[in-house]
Amino acid sequence: MKKILDVNSSKPFIITAALPYANGRLHIGHIVEYVQADIYARFLRLAGVDAKYYCASDTHGTPIEVKAQELKISPDELVQKNHEHNKTVLQKYGVNFESFHATNSSENKELTEWFWGVHLSKGLLYTKQIELSYCNNCKRFLPDRFVKGNCPKCGAPDQYGDVCEKCNGTHKTIDLKNPYCVICKKSAGRKNSEHHFFKLSAFKEPLANWLSSNKNLQSEVVNQVMVWVDQGLDDWCITRDEPYYGFKVPGIDNKYVYVWYDAPIGYISSVANASGSVEQGLKKWKSSRITHVIGKDILYFHFLFWPAMLHGAGLQMPDNVTVHGHLKWEGEKLSKSRGTLIDADDFLKLTSPEFLRFYYAYHLSKTMNDIDFTKDSFLKVVNTELIANIANYCYRVLSFCSTKLGGKISVCDSSDVQKKILEISERVLHSYARFDFREAVRGILEIGSVGNTYLQDKEPWKVLKDDEDLARKTITTAVNISKIISILIKPIIPEFSRSLEDQIGAGVLSNNDINFKYENKTVSGARIIFQRVDSLEINTGDSFSSVDLKVAKILSVDNHPTAEKLYVLNTDLGSENKVIVAGLRKYYSPEELLGRNIVVVANLEPATLRGVKSNGMLLASIDKKGTPRILSPTKSSPGDDVFIDGAVKKAVKQITIEEYSSLGIKVFKGRASYKSSPLKTIHEEIIADAPEESLIG
Ligand code: 2FM
Ligand code: ZN
Repeated sequence: MKKILDVNSSKPFIITAALPYANGRLHIGHIVEYVQADIYARFLRLAGVDAKYYCASDTHGTPIEVKAQELKISPDELVQKNHEHNKTVLQKYGVNFESFHATNSSENKELTEWFWGVHLSKGLLYTKQIELSYCNNCKRFLPDRFVKGNCPKCGAPDQYGDVCEKCNGTHKTIDLKNPYCVICKKSAGRKNSEHHFFKLSAFKEPLANWLSSNKNLQSEVVNQVMVWVDQGLDDWCITRDEPYYGFKVPGIDNKYVYVWYDAPIGYISSVANASGSVEQGLKKWKSSRITHVIGKDILYFHFLFWPAMLHGAGLQMPDNVTVHGHLKWEGEKLSKSRGTLIDADDFLKLTSPEFLRFYYAYHLSKTMNDIDFTKDSFLKVVNTELIANIANYCYRVLSFCSTKLGGKISVCDSSDVQKKILEISERVLHSYARFDFREAVRGILEIGSVGNTYLQDKEPWKVLKDDEDLARKTITTAVNISKIISILIKPIIPEFSRSLEDQIGAGVLSNNDINFKYENKTVSGARIIFQRVDSLEINTGDSFSSVDLKVAKILSVDNHPTAEKLYVLNTDLGSENKVIVAGLRKYYSPEELLGRNIVVVANLEPATLRGVKSNGMLLASIDKKGTPRILSPTKSSPGDDVFIDGAVKKAVKQITIEEYSSLGIKVFKGRASYKSSPLKTIHEEIIADAPEESLIG
């Protein structure tokens, strides 16, 4: 294996993926990277290499603060919720971390202070007065995402103060044209403030050396980064004024460490978290081969700032930074407004996580090319390549062996097929080692085809009648091919392999078992692992996908100050609270409502009802007497999604009351339903106490 990895040291690998901001839930675009790094780590482990995979939530900075303000909850609460959620979702996708920690951890605080101290003592930090965006109305500085305006480079409107999502350029907040405060929307002013700078300009030479000598780096990336290096590197402002959600600058009041300074340190903190202490973590970091996996939107940070920070702290620069492209949806950039930022957890209501892993691996190579998700290609890759070729081959072989040969295998026949398959296997391993999973998958599919052709040629089902020994030898070879497939495909779809291993009965397999030596044994049985996927009901244009129904809990019930039919309810939706104005005063007493779970349209355009703003609508059916009966899912929790099978919720765009009404959600068989599909949460179906067919609004 050493040969395959082209290394002559036995240093362990530390693999990382970029730390997702804990300001929201992961979408299927994020999953590309977590799966990519996971496949690599799993591949290394199967090859007997000590390879551990670390990640964490990025919990600081304006992305968190802005979102928390939007949702009217504290940043702590926002971070906690999304951290737990994202951690669970990644587990569901089979992403196997040694630690999934968080950058607001004690380890990260200690390490950030350590980096700061070393950088300071080496003269790599200095202070200077600069002019910054400031809101005279809110009386605060407006860092990064707190200010928006037209991009100074390409003119795109409504861009953040640090980077333009249109042209990917970075800029200072004061460079924005027509800047405004995101809180009060008033035009932003300017004010001077003293800040710390990191002397990036001093790292031109070590960075250029690293970029040109490190053969693991993609040349397309190196070329791009070299242009920046040649243009000259500006020193980097690494502090922010209060209020800011992050670590305090050691020893200074009212100043905070910029999120991009402590975020990558989070990589080491996760290692420390898993190693038991910061000291042990640093020790492990220093003696490992560091492999980062990132997206092409954060090149500047991982090819300039972070290596310079490491070098400045006396640590080695990364051994590998592998960069992938973005996920597209039917040829277009994922977008909130088009509803294609599909929630990663919701996607699992439609199909198996292993299908998405396989689909991504099928497209991933070590390039910055984007991956295009199309429904048609997804169905084709899953049904034709994975199921018809690979999974069916293994099932045919094992079921024939179990049913016709009593599960007993003998010895392999000496056909050329063995040599061919071992050659392809070697190529597959090399492809994995180069992060070229597309080629690895091609190789595995080739093995599947070779196996299928072999069976077709040998026809053991015919031979069996006259020569059982020969049929058994053929099947023994075919079982060995299944075993090799199971090993080679394991980094991509580990659950499939685990199940195949069980059926083959050879125990837990690794790369050392890529051979034809599984002989004179009994296989355990055969079971169909994957079912064909007939359709993927992600109709991003379907109207139901556009409504965000959620369970909420009523926290307080107040009378509307002027309208006698209305209550003003404060409700808890899990990640946020919403005030909802509802016309229930004639029908329910406050006591009957307090503490109850309800279903709300969480993305309804806010409406002002007699002077009080309502941020949603609760759902009720009308019973036989014409009385509204609220939908009340008792077994669910605040924030639970209310969904129908097969529809993936779009990232939430506001909808109007007319759009909601046009859905025609009504009572069907005693349940709240959309086009006869019952509305449900993961805990229960939503009962509606009203006559059949009555509308729910
Ligand atoms: O771009 C992002 O989503 C950042 N949260 C990535 C941080 S990666 C690392 F440097 F921490
Ligand atoms: Zn303001």
